[in-house]
Amino acid sequence: MKPELARITISLENPLLEAFDAYIEQRGYATRSEAVRDLIREKLIQQGQATGTTEQVGVVSMVYDHHARNLADRLMNKQHDHHQLTVASLHVHLGPHHCLEVSVLRGPGSQLQKLADSLISTKGVLHGEIRYTGTEASLTAMAGAHEHLPA
Ligand code: NI
Repeated sequence: MKPELARITISLENPLLEAFDAYIEQRGYATRSEAVRDLIREKLIQQGQATGTTEQVGVVSMVYDHHARNLADRLMNKQHDHHQLTVASLHVHLGPHHCLEVSVLRGPGSQLQKLADSLISTKGVLHGEIRYTGTEASLTAMAGAHEHLPA
């Protein structure tokens, strides 16, 4: 049985909507609704991997306008407050206005996700995401499994 559909209304700036419509056409979606559903599912799946106490390594990227009041300081303070999770940061001046910051985080998955969410949701951050990658333990386990494969 198909679940009941809920109808929602969202507001977007015109340039953002035009860019989204171009993306929808390029990907071949029949409707905006289908494209939005896929985006939501993708976010929820990533969220599901970011739980628990197993060590994870994540790369957070953030783009922001460095003229935004105190924003660079606020982002740096949040990372200092969690210095045990923050391995390294890279700052790139994209142009006169915008900065790209890339931080490598390492620690329990749920704590990494919490810090990344806090950074990305900081007012003034225009784009941000965390991508999880392999860890020493997970990669070693995979290498170990390979040794047992028949030649
Ligand atoms: Ni900069």
